Amino acid sequence: MGIDDIRLVGVMGGGVMGGGIAQTFAAHGFTTIVRDLNDDLIEKTRQSMVDGRFGLKGSVERGKMSPADYEATVARFSFTRDVADLRECDLIVEAVPENLDLKKGVFAELDDIVKKEAIFASNTSGFAISDLNRAVARKDRFVGFHWFSPAFIMKIVEVIYAPETSAETVATMEALGERLGKTTARVKDAPGKYGFVGNRIYFAMVAEARKVLDEGVASAEDINTVMRLGYNWPAGPLEMVTGARKGWQ
Ligand SMILES: NC(=O)c1ccc[n+]([C@@H]2O[C@H](COP(=O)([O-])OP(=O)(O)OC[C@H]3O[C@@H](n4cnc5c(N)ncnc54)[C@H](O)[C@@H]3O)[C@@H](O)[C@H]2O)c1
Repeated sequence: MGIDDIRLVGVMGGGVMGGGIAQTFAAHGFTTIVRDLNDDLIEKTRQSMVDGRFGLKGSVERGKMSPADYEATVARFSFTRDVADLRECDLIVEAVPENLDLKKGVFAELDDIVKKEAIFASNTSGFAISDLNRAVARKDRFVGFHWFSPAFIMKIVEVIYAPETSAETVATMEALGERLGKTTARVKDAPGKYGFVGNRIYFAMVAEARKVLDEGVASAEDINTVMRLGYNWPAGPLEMVTGARKGWQ
C-alpha cells in the first residue's frame, strides 16, 4: 500500500489524540472516519476538533485556514460507533487508551473486519510494536505511528518499525507524515523498553523533576520556571504532565 493508495482513514478511538489525528488527516484531504464507543464520547471529540483550543475554527480565526478549507475539512470527517464501518479503510490509526490487552483486542477485531491490504498503525505511547503485532496476521503492514499532543499542532511523528514491518510500510508512513505537514523520525522497536525516543527521554526528565520536588529542593512552580527560562522550554516538566493528560485545554 503506497501513499497514493491511502484515501480512506479510520481512527480507532476519539479522545485527546484520536480527535487531533483525525482533524489532521481531514485537513490534509483524507476522508476520515472515527470510531468511538458512544454518542457522548463522539460529540466530545467532534467539539474539540471544531471548537477546541486547537480546533478548526481557531485555525480560521488565526488566519491559518480559509473558510472554504474549513468547510471542506469538516465535510471530510465523520463518526461511527460501529467498527464494521471501518471495513473499507486503507489505513487504521489506533488511539484507544494505553492498555496492552485493550489494544491487542481492538487490533484482533479489526484484522478480521478491515480489508487485507490496509495498514494498521498504533499511536501507543510506548508498547512494543512487536508485541502489539501478535494480535494480527498482517504483521508486515503493522507499524507504530506515535504523535505528540496536541496532535494537530506538534510537528513530529515517530514511525516505529518492528522486525516484521515491511520497508514499504515504513516508506508509506514516512511519506504520509510529510503529506500531513509533519516531520517523521524512524525508530527501531525496542521490546522491553517503554516509550520509543520522545517518551523515554521525557519520562526520565519528569522522574528527575519529581525527585527534586520530593526532596524539597524547590517548589513545583520554581522547578517549572527554571526549565522554562533556563532552557527555553515552552512548559516546565511538571506542567507538561498536566498538558499531556488533559489535552492542553
Ligand atoms: N495524551 C497524550 O498526550 C498522548 C500522546 C501520544 C500518544 N498517546 C497515546 O494515544 C492513545 C490514546 O490516548 P488519549 O490520551 O487520546 O486517550 P483518551 O482517553 O483521550 O481517548 C481514547 C478514546 O478511545 C475510546 N475507546 C476506548 N475503547 C475503544 C474501542 N474499543 N474502540 C474505539 N474507541 C475506544 C475512548 O472512549 C476514548 O474516547 C494512548 O495509547 C496514549 O498512550 C497519548
